[in-house]
Amino acid sequence: MTEKKKEVMEKQTVKDIGLKNKRVLMRVDFNVALDKEGNITDDTRIRASLPTIRYILEQGASLILMSHLGRPKGKVVEKLRMDVVARRLEKLLKKKVLKLDECVGSEVKKKAEEMKPDEVMLLENTRFYKGETDNEPQFAKKLACLADIFINDAFGTAHRAHASTVGVTRFLPSAAGFLMGKELEVLGGILANPQAPFVAILGGAKVSDKIGVLLNLLDKCEDILIGGGMAYTFLKAKGFPVGKSLLEEEKISEAKNIMDKAFEKKCGILLPLDHIVAKEAREGAEAKIVEQDKIPCDWLALDIGPETLKLFAASIKKARTIFWNGPMGMFEIEDFAKGTETIAKMLAECDATVVVGGGDSIAAIRRIGLEDKMSHISTGGGASLEFLEGKELPGVAALNGIS
Ligand code: 3PG
Repeated sequence: MTEKKKEVMEKQTVKDIGLKNKRVLMRVDFNVALDKEGNITDDTRIRASLPTIRYILEQGASLILMSHLGRPKGKVVEKLRMDVVARRLEKLLKKKVLKLDECVGSEVKKKAEEMKPDEVMLLENTRFYKGETDNEPQFAKKLACLADIFINDAFGTAHRAHASTVGVTRFLPSAAGFLMGKELEVLGGILANPQAPFVAILGGAKVSDKIGVLLNLLDKCEDILIGGGMAYTFLKAKGFPVGKSLLEEEKISEAKNIMDKAFEKKCGILLPLDHIVAKEAREGAEAKIVEQDKIPCDWLALDIGPETLKLFAASIKKARTIFWNGPMGMFEIEDFAKGTETIAKMLAECDATVVVGGGDSIAAIRRIGLEDKMSHISTGGGASLEFLEGKELPGVAALNGIS
């Protein structure tokens, strides 16, 4: 974040502005997980926006909410309509939420103009419009003309330069909501001033998703613990056989480069010492524990083994700050969930400040009911990674303040 932007952010949150009788347009990240029937399976993101929503209404403003849901790519996709979200929000807020079937147009504008203080309206999925992801000024202007003020509380979408996150700020005075402020404070804190030792735990399928954050954290972390599918590209780079495990051939040299840099900077890269391997990635498949360099050629590694857990435990125990993003194995299959769940339990029991980002690690924590034991669970997956890469988030950079 630039110094100037930091100043704006420090001054301009929803708390600093007069809201009485104003119409507020607020971007939220209601991109919640849905099951096959379209029911919400995790409403954390909706709950996380409630403090800002309640505050705005208490100040005597009317509130127009907007969010994307899934990736409908500029077309109407029936199962990605916002109705299910509106119903859940109504339940949580204990008040009526008027759900519209569009985001812009004369009908929407009329409904917005008719709103009274303390009323809430939710627009349709912003990504039903191509202008949203293209950040089209015309679309942004039509959204902006619905209100007097723009508040962005969608930290989870702050890494996207879209019409509803960035474009609208060209047409409306803007500020951050409480959730946005809290996420920036916590993640900014571990980046700028982590209590040492700082340990990062990175997992998930792809090295390519984590290269930026790995490079940025090498300077700051004592250890980086690597598990999950991405570990096998690192092990391959060290010359170990990985069988049929996940591998990004084209990232092997990058993995090597990261390990060389880590060595120069005295940051420990801790890789799995043993693995749970199986012949197939399915529940009940034949599986066994093998040592680091003993993955058979027609087996694939699907979880970290007990020796790895001991190695990781020693690092976690001495840490004062921990950031975790990405599972340690294919945790969605019970047989391969132990590594991820044991890490979650270790984090729940340790004394460090623990910040968790990324849908899969959070799902694993929830599954075993440990979310209250973490210091902070970020509502941003990609956004928290980009922030920790040291990148400026467009949705934050665009906020211009309210005079
Ligand atoms: C997320 O779930 O990480 C955010 O809502 C952003 O969604 P996107 O990756 O589809 O832009």
